[in-house]
Amino acid sequence: MQKKWWKEGVAYQIYVRSFKDSNGDGIGDLRGIIEKLDYIKSLGVDMIYLNPINKSPNEDNGYDISDFEDIMIEFGDLEDFDELLSGIHQRNMRLIMDMVINHSSDEHPWFIEAIKSKENKYRDYYIWSKGKDNKPPNNWGSFFGGSAWELDENTGEYYLHIFSKKQPDLNWTNKELRQDMKNMLKYWVGKGVDGFRMDAINHLAKDMRFPDGEVKDGALYGDFIPYVQNLPEVHDYLKELKRDVFTDSHVVIGETGGINYENAHVYTGVDNKELDFTFHFDLHSVGKGENPWERVDIDLIKDIKEKMTGWATRDEKEGWCPVFYSNHDTTRTVSRLGDDKKYHKLSAKMLATLQLTHKGTPFIYYGDEIGMTNADDFKLEDYRDASIFTRYSEFVLSGIVSHENYIKGLNLTSRDNSRTPMQWNAKENAGFTDSNPWIKVNSNYQEVNVEKQEKDCDSILNFYKKLIALRKEELTLVYGTFEEIDKENPSIYAYLRILEDKKILIVCNFFGRDAQLMLSEEAFLSNFKLEVCNYENGEDNLQIVNEKIINLRPYESRVYISER
Ligand code: GLC
Ligand code: CA
Repeated sequence: MQKKWWKEGVAYQIYVRSFKDSNGDGIGDLRGIIEKLDYIKSLGVDMIYLNPINKSPNEDNGYDISDFEDIMIEFGDLEDFDELLSGIHQRNMRLIMDMVINHSSDEHPWFIEAIKSKENKYRDYYIWSKGKDNKPPNNWGSFFGGSAWELDENTGEYYLHIFSKKQPDLNWTNKELRQDMKNMLKYWVGKGVDGFRMDAINHLAKDMRFPDGEVKDGALYGDFIPYVQNLPEVHDYLKELKRDVFTDSHVVIGETGGINYENAHVYTGVDNKELDFTFHFDLHSVGKGENPWERVDIDLIKDIKEKMTGWATRDEKEGWCPVFYSNHDTTRTVSRLGDDKKYHKLSAKMLATLQLTHKGTPFIYYGDEIGMTNADDFKLEDYRDASIFTRYSEFVLSGIVSHENYIKGLNLTSRDNSRTPMQWNAKENAGFTDSNPWIKVNSNYQEVNVEKQEKDCDSILNFYKKLIALRKEELTLVYGTFEEIDKENPSIYAYLRILEDKKILIVCNFFGRDAQLMLSEEAFLSNFKLEVCNYENGEDNLQIVNEKIINLRPYESRVYISER
């Protein structure tokens, strides 16, 4: 397998707004990250992925860019950026930037020009339609609620926005637009950025005939996915970017909804020259019931094992993958996939074990290394995600959902759960800021914080550090094959990683009850030495039923290595 820095490294994702405020305005910023670079380095990670930092009016927290070559005012300026980048490089880490090129802000100069007249040079940088009988051209509903079309009163035409109306979609069929985008990407490449996460990238092409979407189960709008996602022209645009902008030393990652381990090769196939790997949505909704305010039990085989194993066992030629549970669009890992109450520490450590020994590049979402949890006591006014309020009118004010259920749903599934400030210490506002944070701090910060866990050798934080160090030492965890054991086991995820004569055995009990595992012949424990266990004195405490069967306690996880 081809060796690459981005396969061997471990990544750390930072939601800049919520990481560290350096100047007391309640908003995280670049200088805040600079202050914390030694902390990040102390985790043992090799690359930092930052959510968007470009200039933006913040309708969607930076995913609505008004200047692609400048920094968001609240985050700092280009000098801060240069200092941050060199601080990262000095510490032998790398930087991955988020690039939002599917749409811009409606406050971008291109859009401001575009709405001046139909003849304006920038008109065609966006996607327009006259509409029908004073109505939008079709029934497409946007991802953030409401119609995907907005009327521009001045010119009397509708523009397309698959996200909010302040995020008009760019027209990638326009060659000049593509050239401007390539120049912009080259500008960041020229500064020394090591990789890019391309936002909503499989939406670059749209079906410009704008057919109506299918209306499912009495929905207000039609399903537009078949007409705005994974269209063939996306491949041409990605190949063009790879050819004209990026080199082999960059990592190019795409966010690709609707793509799974069976079809991701269309973008990541090593001969395609499009993307190195993709972020999927496989684990985003695990445990979510039919309604957002309901939870269902996790089906380990279907929800987790089939998917994670599916990614890990793809043919080499199909490309690489990340291993991640959470990001800024999900809920908190331990709340969704573990037990954030009774087994907080054990389940967070079990999940860390799985993530850092699986096949693919681990992306640790900020705060997961201390087991940050959902903000499950937030009220409507505590939320900040704009889409929550659009949907509130669509569902609650129109009487479809009760206020109580809506809030319960947000507590369980809102992406604001994973955007609360980093919990640095037990002081006011968790040491994130000296003033009012832009979004409330999770009320458990006195219990769950970095300072406390740094001092406690049994903490989640120190467990992460140990596993990250192990992954860096054992290339078997990077390039080794992946073989599942006792596949049908409904409670335990167990597998072997094998490279040449080295074998690593990993066993993880996914639930808060005892469970038994049937070992395969290659996994008989007599050939292995225990390396990591999330229970104290793991060596002495293994419950052996007989030579083939072991019993794991609630959320117990173990990593064994074969003797050389
Ligand atoms: C992606 C981002 C998400 C954002 C959307 C629109 O899905 O991850 O946070 O809201 O794109 O840019
Ligand atoms: Ca600030």
